[in-house]
Amino acid sequence: MFKKTSNYTQGREPELLVGLDLGTSKVTVVVAERETDGDEAQIIGVGQAPSNGIRKGLIVNLDQAVRSVRQAVSDAQNMVGQDIRDVTVAFGGGEVTSIRSKGMVALGRSPRSVARLDIERVIDAAQANVVVPMNQSILHTIPVEYSLDGNIGIDDPLGMNAMRLDIDVQSIIVPTATIQNVLNCVTRAGLDVNSLVIKPLVSALGVLSPEDALAGAVVLDIGGGTTGVAVFADGRPKHLALLPIGGDHITNDLATVLKLPLNKAEEIKRTISLRSDFEEGDAMNFEHHGREYSIEKTDLHDIVGCRLAELCDELIRPQIKTAKITMLPGGVLLTGGVAKTDGIEDFFLEKLNLPARSALPLDANRMPPNRNTQEFSSAAGIIKYILERERDPFRYLDNPSVIKGGDKARPVQPVQEPFYPGTQPQKGSDGQGFDLFGAVRKIFKDIF
Ligand SMILES: Nc1ncnc2c1ncn2[C@@H]1O[C@H](COP(=O)(O)OP(=O)(O)OP(=O)(O)O)[C@@H](O)[C@H]1O
Ligand SMILES: [Mg+2]
Repeated sequence: MFKKTSNYTQGREPELLVGLDLGTSKVTVVVAERETDGDEAQIIGVGQAPSNGIRKGLIVNLDQAVRSVRQAVSDAQNMVGQDIRDVTVAFGGGEVTSIRSKGMVALGRSPRSVARLDIERVIDAAQANVVVPMNQSILHTIPVEYSLDGNIGIDDPLGMNAMRLDIDVQSIIVPTATIQNVLNCVTRAGLDVNSLVIKPLVSALGVLSPEDALAGAVVLDIGGGTTGVAVFADGRPKHLALLPIGGDHITNDLATVLKLPLNKAEEIKRTISLRSDFEEGDAMNFEHHGREYSIEKTDLHDIVGCRLAELCDELIRPQIKTAKITMLPGGVLLTGGVAKTDGIEDFFLEKLNLPARSALPLDANRMPPNRNTQEFSSAAGIIKYILERERDPFRYLDNPSVIKGGDKARPVQPVQEPFYPGTQPQKGSDGQGFDLFGAVRKIFKDIF
């Protein structure tokens, strides 16, 4: 328990809010207990299991993924001493498309007060303008901006007077098979899905203060197999994207270039700094399986820097540009496991020309020990997502028909691991000596 006063003591069952984060490296179950006034909730337990059957955020082996979910649920249940049944699931992987569209409704010839029905109508109008590709589904419809009689920047039009209501919405579109596989995985693990949410949104809600969200900020969740991008301004997500690159690619690069087993490459990766504060010739010396290694720190720095530079230049920067937000005084908040890399803030500041900082979950002080780190921001954000949707049902709308698609009887779609050119682990050359920069060049040769 991580809360001093608990509803358990008041002789009634407290209401639990549960989030399930299907990550590439780990599956997390976060459990919060609703406070008595009903507006807030406190995290009381975080269960975790190594993630199997999930690559680049996508389920590639259903049975293994189901086992990982069951293990994480059991870990969380042991922690909170209660059964877990209903969950809100954060996932990401495969193609995620964000489409902006506009809608308008006339309110009358003279001004009148905007009702809930008007907001529903204007959202429907904007949705009608979205062309959803075959075999894809809208997962979220997120109002980005309301205008009343041409005045933009209206935060909440409900109850305000006008003759015309306009809206700009962002639709998040995901392959239908991806959604069905997530639903099948979670229902097979014995859980009921309350709603589904795309990961970059919950990562942002997990770390962004209301002030940063209002002023304008970018949240980058760099996890094991994906990078989530969320650009916020005026308190709303203006653009969300999920990129198929994460820390596992850095591990693969190190393993390939240095000809090391993956577990050793992973261990070394966590000690590498992106600061250039080493002396010329400084080396990391170690023995592995009877072989002596001496690797210059500058080479280690360059391998990690090369992958992160590509991620910034080729993938992240264009996404930030797409959001068309000119002022981002909140800067860049870096989260996810890779945000623990030493010196990453200065590296991103230089690359993106924005102040950057590594960000923990907002509720880190209430998270269990060892679960209050960057890897758990998205899981913590699921609880914020549940609460925000309760407070404002028009903030993040989901598509109820996609949940119905999780019928247990529905045949499981065959899943192929997605192919993103240049992101697969490369085989090293068979030559004896190794050409570090040749190998790094080879890794990136085909990218983009
Ligand atoms: N100290 C560290 N330094 C550098 N990288 C680290 C460190 N600790 C963890 N990582 C990397 O972070 C990644 C895991 O991050 P995280 O737990 O956020 O991923 P995930 O949520 O499971 O995956 P995803 O969100 O991509 O589906 C791994 O690649 C891991 O190697
Ligand atoms: Mg993650």
